[in-house]
Amino acid sequence: MAEILQTIGSVTGISLVLAVIISLAEKWLNNYGQVNIDINRGGRTFTTEGGRSLLSTLSEQKIFIPSACGGKATCGLCKVQVLSGSGVILPTEIPYLTAQEQKDNVRLSCQVKVKNDMAILIPEELFNIKEFVGTVEELRDETHDIKLLRIRLPEGETVKFKAGQFMQFYTKPYGKVKETVFRAYSIASPPSDNTHIDLIVRLVPGGLATGYVHQALQVGDEVRLSGPYGDFYLRGENADELIMIAGGSGLAPIRSLIYDITEKGLDHKIRFFFGAVARRDLYALEEMAQLEKQNPNFTFIPALSNPADGDEWEGETGRITDVVARHLDGAEGKEAYLCGSPGMLDACIAVLNSKGFSDDSIFYDKF
Ligand SMILES: Cc1cc2nc3c(=O)[nH]c(=O)nc-3n(C[C@H](O)[C@H](O)[C@H](O)COP(=O)(O)OP(=O)(O)OC[C@H]3O[C@@H](n4cnc5c(N)ncnc54)[C@H](O)[C@@H]3O)c2cc1C
Ligand code: FES
Repeated sequence: MAEILQTIGSVTGISLVLAVIISLAEKWLNNYGQVNIDINRGGRTFTTEGGRSLLSTLSEQKIFIPSACGGKATCGLCKVQVLSGSGVILPTEIPYLTAQEQKDNVRLSCQVKVKNDMAILIPEELFNIKEFVGTVEELRDETHDIKLLRIRLPEGETVKFKAGQFMQFYTKPYGKVKETVFRAYSIASPPSDNTHIDLIVRLVPGGLATGYVHQALQVGDEVRLSGPYGDFYLRGENADELIMIAGGSGLAPIRSLIYDITEKGLDHKIRFFFGAVARRDLYALEEMAQLEKQNPNFTFIPALSNPADGDEWEGETGRITDVVARHLDGAEGKEAYLCGSPGMLDACIAVLNSKGFSDDSIFYDKF
C-alpha cells in the first residue's frame, strides 16, 4: 500500500513539474511583446501586445471585421489583405480564398496570429461599424424553437443600416458555458426604427449563442452588438418584381426588407415564399397579412412541406422549391432575395436559374 501511495505521489509530482515547465515555455514562446499595426498605408496605426488573432486584435481597437462563426474558420467572412507581417496561409483558410485572393495575400483574420509588426488593408466603410450595448426589451416565442429578440439602444444612440444587413451579437458566460462567443444575426426590424434592433434566433441544439438567447437571456438584460455588416440588401433599380424566399429564421432580413420597401412606398411587386415543415414551424402570419393590407403589391405565400395530422392547412404544400417552380413563369424584370439554410438555398437557386434568373439577379445570405 505504501508503495502504491509513493508511486502515485511521484507521478503527481512529475506531472506538476511538467505542467509548470509547459506553462512557462508557452509564456516565453508566446511572448511577442509590443507590435505595430499599420492599416491602409498609414491611414491608422496602433501599437498593441502581440499573441492574439488579428481579428481579436482589431476588435479590441474597435475595428470590427465581419465575422459569423466567432473565429472558428467556418464562415469565411473575416477577410483582410495583409501587406506584410503574416506567416503563410493556413490549410483552414484555403477553402474560403480564391486563387486571386491567395495571390494577394488576403487572409482570414481569425486565423492570423499577430506575432510581429503588420501592415494590412481593410475597406474604409468598416471604420463606420459601431458597437452598441442595448437592453432586451422583448423576448417573444415565435415557434417552438424560434424567438424574436427586441433590443433597445441606449438613450440618444441610433443605428444606421440597410434592410437585409446583419449584426454581430456577443454572448456572456451562462450555465456551464464559460466562454463569450459572437455570432451573426440578421436585423429583422426596418431601418426606420433606428433606436431598436430586432433579431430572430432559431435554437440550434447544443449551440452556444442560440442556447444563450433561448435559455439564459431575460427581458431587461444588457446585450452587446456590433454592426451593421453585410452586402445582402435591396438593389432593385432594374427590377419590377422581387421574389423573396426564406425558411425558418431566414425570415429575419426579408421582414426588414419588406417593411422598408413598404414604408418607402417603392412600387416593386413582391412575392414572398416562406417554407416551413409543419404548422408549428410557421410564424409571422398575422404580421405578413397586415403587411399585405398596407402594401397591395405584396403577396405572402407560406408553404408547408410536411403538414402534421390535425394541421388543417389550406395553403400551399410541398417543398419550397416545388412551390416556387409552380408559381414562377420567368425571370424578366425580376430579382430574387433568398435567406435560409445552405441546402435549401442551393436548391432554390437551381430552380431560379432554370427559370432564367442569372446569377447576378439573385442575392442571398446562407445560414
Ligand atoms: C450573415 C448571417 C446571418 C445570420 N442570421 C441569422 C439569423 O437571423 N437567425 C439565426 O437564427 N441565425 C442566423 N445566422 C446563424 C448564426 O450566426 C449562428 O451560426 C447560429 O445561430 C448557431 O449559433 P450557435 O452559437 O448557437 O451554434 P454553434 O455553437 O456555433 O454550433 C453548434 C453546433 O451546431 C452546428 N450548427 C451551427 N449552426 C447551425 C445551423 N444553422 N443548423 C444546424 N446546425 C448548426 C455547428 O456546426 C455546431 O456543430 C446567421 C449567420 C450568418 C452568416
Ligand atoms: S471569423 Fe469566421 S472564418 Fe474567420
